Amino acid sequence: LDSTITLNNGIEMPLLGLGVWKSDNQTATQSVKWALANGYRAIDTAKQYGNEAGVGEGLKQGLADNGLSREDVFLTTKIFNGDQGYESTLKAFEGQLERLQTSYVDLLLIHWPVNGKYNETWKAMEKLYHEGKVRSIGVSNFNLDRLSDLMEHASVKPVLNQMEFNPVEQEKDIKDYCDRHHIWIEAWSPLGHGEALNNPAVKEIAAKYNKSTAQVILRWELQRELITIPKSTHEEYIKQNADLYDFELSDADVALINSLDVDQRSLWYGAFSWNGNPAGIVDAVDEWDH
Ligand code: A2P
Repeated sequence: LDSTITLNNGIEMPLLGLGVWKSDNQTATQSVKWALANGYRAIDTAKQYGNEAGVGEGLKQGLADNGLSREDVFLTTKIFNGDQGYESTLKAFEGQLERLQTSYVDLLLIHWPVNGKYNETWKAMEKLYHEGKVRSIGVSNFNLDRLSDLMEHASVKPVLNQMEFNPVEQEKDIKDYCDRHHIWIEAWSPLGHGEALNNPAVKEIAAKYNKSTAQVILRWELQRELITIPKSTHEEYIKQNADLYDFELSDADVALINSLDVDQRSLWYGAFSWNGNPAGIVDAVDEWDH
């Protein structure tokens, strides 16, 4: 299993990265430094997380501490819902670069599909892509309708769709569509917000391989050819979550984890549904803040 994949625009991306959702600036700085010291070469943040400055600081310190240069790390950030639209995206992005203390990002995503705005946002991102301020562009939390609509309007194809993906939330239809169009899936909350770690079937598999449940889930994601960005604020977990290359799940165990899909999203999204009321998603998500 390679540790990097090639996106549909020829850019190489690590399969594993650090997520920092829900971390404040100070915590994000520390997590990024631990991650870089423990071999991570990809970091995923967003303006909506409120920690781009912390990530920028962690990156600066972590690069220096480990003798790395900016080009060694694959940095992702996202366009905030409230900034969507052509001019507002361009303007917001300048501030994002400043907070991140960098002259470019490796991947820029539309954080959520804001109705009536995401195609304009995409045009602005295509401009940034052509100018070389972003090395690749993609989307996040796009369902099939939105993704196919964007594909009809886009001249640059998204390299990936970052979405919630874990053993109990596998989104088969979107995965199939993306596979057909050479769009990678990047899994956010790969550990199911930590909840999937207590799944009895996963626990049994973990005991068999003498690995933690987190490692089994992350290894399953890699073997399913998903880019994955587990979040942790503890050095021990950050280390453990990158230690995935000394074992391999059997086909039977991959199949067993595949069978755990119960469309968990519909359970915890609660008041609104993914396929039901698209406008509602964005309203609710602004409060929910991912
Ligand atoms: P913490 O941030 O306190 O270190 P997800 O990425 O699916 O949203 O999951 C993140 C949650 O899982 C966080 O609460 C994180 O805890 C926890 N977590 C991450 N890695 C591990 C691990 N290896 N073992 C146990 N819990 C973990």
